[in-house]
Amino acid sequence: MAQPTIKKAVFPVGGLGTRFLPATKAIAKEMLPIVDKPLIQYAVEEAVEAGCTDMVFVTGRTKKSIEDHFDTAVDLEIELQAKQKTTLLDIARNIIPSSVNCSFIRQSHPLGLGHAILCARPIVGDEPFAVLLPDDMVDHKTGCLQQIVDVQRQTGGSTIAVDEISADNITAYGVVSVDNTESNPMRVRHIVEKPPRTTAPSNLAVIGRYILQPKIFPILEKTGRGAGDEIQLTDAIAVLAQQQQVHAFRFDGIRYDCGSKLGLLKATVGYAMKHPELADEFRKYLNSL
Ligand code: G1P
Repeated sequence: MAQPTIKKAVFPVGGLGTRFLPATKAIAKEMLPIVDKPLIQYAVEEAVEAGCTDMVFVTGRTKKSIEDHFDTAVDLEIELQAKQKTTLLDIARNIIPSSVNCSFIRQSHPLGLGHAILCARPIVGDEPFAVLLPDDMVDHKTGCLQQIVDVQRQTGGSTIAVDEISADNITAYGVVSVDNTESNPMRVRHIVEKPPRTTAPSNLAVIGRYILQPKIFPILEKTGRGAGDEIQLTDAIAVLAQQQQVHAFRFDGIRYDCGSKLGLLKATVGYAMKHPELADEFRKYLNSL
């Protein structure tokens, strides 16, 4: 049976980004750049590539820069036009295709990822939707969300991206238990948020790309606080997996954890080494070190 197309993408961007203080005292961590584009723009471009037309940002304090980024900057455009800087004008004007719609919802209390997703319910409504955590970047010729959309078209249900993570780091993630680790996609039997290393059900950790069925919303409404005393999306997915099919998919590509300083630096180096204007000079510089 043909699966409905995923049109809506939710970006939970309400977090305080304290790991990057003082850089994130007044601006959103999602506005930190990788070379010349903010993290959030990479995530939105990935959603657009996968066919999404409605971007839903669940925001919080210090996030006005995200709204400004996806809005028209009239003063900037007038100035660039007056100076005939046409290439820059094109960049400023074409942050997203004009057919793409952006909505912003404020998450007034930082109660966790599950709560952020529940805040998006009035806009998402009763259809399957994508969730992208902009901290997680995946570099591959086919975007990570597009890969998951392709899988979900075959399997139906909900699909989440997973990657193999070392035992030392597994406690920072949602971790899945699947019926057959040899297959891909894999049927999720159970999922647990930030398990202790000794009880982690596998080494397959959730990376921030999900396609979820709207059934997740009533489950989230009933989900109490879990790991970190927050309402966890993972806990709701664990309940969903008892009611409907949830698949985990090992995507192709290099994943960068841009929620950490080291990950942000690695992504910067990775993207600079393939940037058309910078690649040659930057490689020479790295070799000279
Ligand atoms: C969130 C999710 C977690 C997932 C991770 C991926 O955790 O709760 O399940 O594995 O993103 O980056 P956070 O990084 O917000 O603590």
